[in-house]
Amino acid sequence: MKGVVLAGGLGTRLMPLTAATNKHLLPVYDQPMVFYPIQTLVRAGIDEVLVVTGGPHAGHFLRVLKNGQELGLKHLEFAFQEGEGGIPVALSLAADFADGGPIAVVLGDNTTDADIAGAVRNFSDGALVFLKQVSDPRRFGVPEFDPQDKTKIVKIEEKPSFPKSDFAVTGLYLYDNQVFDIIKTLKPSQRGELEITDVNNFYLSKGRLFWSKLDGFWSDAGTFESLFYSNQYWAQKKLAVKKGL
Ligand code: G1P
Repeated sequence: MKGVVLAGGLGTRLMPLTAATNKHLLPVYDQPMVFYPIQTLVRAGIDEVLVVTGGPHAGHFLRVLKNGQELGLKHLEFAFQEGEGGIPVALSLAADFADGGPIAVVLGDNTTDADIAGAVRNFSDGALVFLKQVSDPRRFGVPEFDPQDKTKIVKIEEKPSFPKSDFAVTGLYLYDNQVFDIIKTLKPSQRGELEITDVNNFYLSKGRLFWSKLDGFWSDAGTFESLFYSNQYWAQKKLAVKKGL
């Protein structure tokens, strides 16, 4: 499977840090943020990656990632997104790269130490979302489970005021190639963007949405709080390894 890292946007929630560079190049302890999602893909056996970026600092990625070999990639491509439009708009730029096959998608500000290799290996078709229990589900896509069958998602709501569960749909997704046709059918949400949650609900309506819990640490890093939290986690973890704890 090939991988796509979505690393565009203006990072307005992190201004003034993002006045100097792209959000996904800000430090998370000892590495630029974007290294983490790429390493998650590499650990899952994915070594062909497309980074979709945009905005005024897009050129900085080349200097940092070069040809991706230091991170274990065999093939690294970049796509440039003009303007905004939401996660599905960025993902649609990966259609040629996917070349008819399935893709693993990671949001560039999501860091995790979970192992998704098994899910990648076993994936055949439909869509798979990774869920994580969180204390503040209102910030995320949130699944509602069937009260009769807690293994069944009945709906995903994007940033609900009254979340129906305490799980977040994380920014890691596996999609079959149909995703690119589904994106073409989407309509903008109330905030004027195409929503990845609508893509997932489309698969759900066809009975083709699967889910798996993410084991281990997961956080986004798109706000000051979550960026700080991610830095703290990775610093503690890496320092403990260094000290042999
Ligand atoms: C996006 C998605 C949301 C998901 C989150 C994970 O939100 O829209 O469904 O739960 O990423 O990080 P954003 O952080 O772009 O607002």
